[in-house]
Amino acid sequence: DYQLPLAGRIVTISAGGTREPLDPVRFLGNRSSGKQGVALAVAARNAGATVRLLAAHMDVPPPAGVEVVRVETALQLRAAALDAAARSDVVIMSAAVADFRPAEVSDTKIKKRDDTADPVISLVRNPDILQELVEQRNSGPAGSGQLIVGFAAETGDSQGDVLAYAEAKLRRKGCDLLVVNHVGTDKVFGQDSNSVVILSRSGSEPQEASGTKTEVSEAIIGRISFELNHVSP
Ligand code: C5P
Repeated sequence: DYQLPLAGRIVTISAGGTREPLDPVRFLGNRSSGKQGVALAVAARNAGATVRLLAAHMDVPPPAGVEVVRVETALQLRAAALDAAARSDVVIMSAAVADFRPAEVSDTKIKKRDDTADPVISLVRNPDILQELVEQRNSGPAGSGQLIVGFAAETGDSQGDVLAYAEAKLRRKGCDLLVVNHVGTDKVFGQDSNSVVILSRSGSEPQEASGTKTEVSEAIIGRISFELNHVSP
């Protein structure tokens, strides 16, 4: 019998960039377009998975045939991710999550006034969602077979430097696969093509994938399917 590689699997994918409010009309954000996460959702859907897309701010619409949960902030994404992960075979964190959020959110629009000092924005750390997903899996009763995938955008003088940083991040975060982007000043964000290396916690050789975000996503989903179907936990 012919079966799609992710038939019967539930895959949760975060996409886009979080926005951290300062007041009712302003936020701190980032340049993530959501294109990579959306391409992953399409590839997972086409591989037969039931896909839940946790969509932070995106420049592109979500694809047909996937369930969409809209989120704005890192804390909202965290709640949605921990909830969805409890019922998922695979979790892919491709969202650009703000590392910090404003310590205080004003109920009213912050006004410019001539009689007061220029405002200072204090920031507090956001939780590392990827790390919490790994902790939740490891403490859960039936979670050991779940596959957790992180992304890392690294700068570095050489591919060797980038891989060394990424290896350290993979160990620190404890996820199963880490998809590494070597980023320069104007690469990756918002672009349609991408070049990545997939690192695995199980220690198999780094796998390179490049091309359009669609092609890269198909390679990542192919690798995930392989890990689920051929590598015992
Ligand atoms: O540490 P760094 O931000 O490079 O890690 C990137 C990975 O961690 C991505 O998969 C991103 O979605 C995830 N992340 C997270 N929570 C954060 C920051 C990043 O889950 N607060």
